[in-house]
Amino acid sequence: MKALELDLSGIRSIVSDGELHALQEKSNEYTAQLHAGTGLGNDFLGWINLPEEITDSEFAEIERAARTLQEHCDYVVSIGIGGSYLGARAVIEALTPTFAAYRREHSAPHVIFAGHNIGEDYLSELVDFLSDKRFGIINISKSGTTTEPAIAFRVLKGLLERQVGRDGARERIIAVTDRAKGALRTLADKEGYKTFVIPDNIGGRFSVLTPVGLLPIAVAGFDIRELVRGAKDMKARVDEGVPFDQNPSALYAAARNLLYQKGKKIEILGNFHPKLHYIGEWWKQLYGESEGKDHKGIFNAAVDFSADLHSMGQWIQEGERTIFETIVSIASPDTELRIASDAENLDGLNYLAGKRIDEVNKMAELGTRMAHIDGGVPNIRVILPQLNAYYIGQLFYFFEKAVGISGYMLEVNPFNQPGVEAYKKNMFALLEKPGFEEESKAIKSRL
Ligand code: PA5
Repeated sequence: MKALELDLSGIRSIVSDGELHALQEKSNEYTAQLHAGTGLGNDFLGWINLPEEITDSEFAEIERAARTLQEHCDYVVSIGIGGSYLGARAVIEALTPTFAAYRREHSAPHVIFAGHNIGEDYLSELVDFLSDKRFGIINISKSGTTTEPAIAFRVLKGLLERQVGRDGARERIIAVTDRAKGALRTLADKEGYKTFVIPDNIGGRFSVLTPVGLLPIAVAGFDIRELVRGAKDMKARVDEGVPFDQNPSALYAAARNLLYQKGKKIEILGNFHPKLHYIGEWWKQLYGESEGKDHKGIFNAAVDFSADLHSMGQWIQEGERTIFETIVSIASPDTELRIASDAENLDGLNYLAGKRIDEVNKMAELGTRMAHIDGGVPNIRVILPQLNAYYIGQLFYFFEKAVGISGYMLEVNPFNQPGVEAYKKNMFALLEKPGFEEESKAIKSRL
């Protein structure tokens, strides 16, 4: 197998081939709208051709900036939230050896994330940790005004300037933001930081293949050209004109909409590999923020198996039958470890002797799939041949294209996120931010 595969056999008891193919025409129409830019949210379609448009000199500029940070730093803090955070974290966590953080020697800087929460302990413990370390900062915010990353940046910029001076900090800070507007743009220009631009027509959750994702991923030592090559190859497989039944993004979009119409209101993205945890987090944002609007949309949850089989497994097997599952499988792990035979067999595991751990994991996955399907939970599988940058690139583009089609099938604008403003407005009113005087009075009268 040389490409991502989609397996819909686990939804056949509830969705027929006929029902799936009945959506073919709509799917083609929505794909055409995405490509022609005639549908909802058409000012945010820059991600569609992005994998083909990144030039060699753009790659080279990102790689050069990454090398500068690598030379100066043992730790690089990538500051950002939502779309300015999750894609990079998904790739870095998937590709970094699990115990790298405990190793003294590591060829690339450790990338630490901040600005995705406002936990005081998190930030003050980070400041403590970095106070005697060689570190740098990538500050990512498209709007340049998001509160969480702005706070983290102010704190860490102060620490870095105390450590290496303002000139030294300038060499160790890179900003990724809008071309012209926002506080971060103003600040970066004033301080003379190296900057990268997030294109206007690419929304946060679709920005992993821009410098938003590519810069931290390159700093962590991973091959961004392979990531983009994977996305580009997937683009060809799901492009306009590819027949519906050969287009995995169109099929996935159609399948999940049919399941939704049949009362399956929750989609659980599962994995059997802990390195995929943040792929699930990235996917939750992509789908939740794209589709959950106008009081419609599948609720997106993510689970890590087999750990969560010992907790949420009960609910999935026997709870309310409003769920379906999408499992991201990996055909071949990178490493090999076999279970040894034991003369005493006190743990009773000799029946597994000689087997690879992955053979056991695969049987856990198959057993779970069969049990869940028997229990009324339709199952979709997305199979990656291996976990590497190239196939993650395929996976990203597969999900991005599918959510565009899927959102149009649901008749929502998949490219806006008006709902994320409501909490910000309340928070600013409660904190008495200048410009929110009226809201402040109103909200305080409710307390
Ligand atoms: O998808 C989105 O647009 C949002 O989740 C943003 O990525 C998130 O709010 C961060 O915004 P910004 O990059 O402007 O700081």
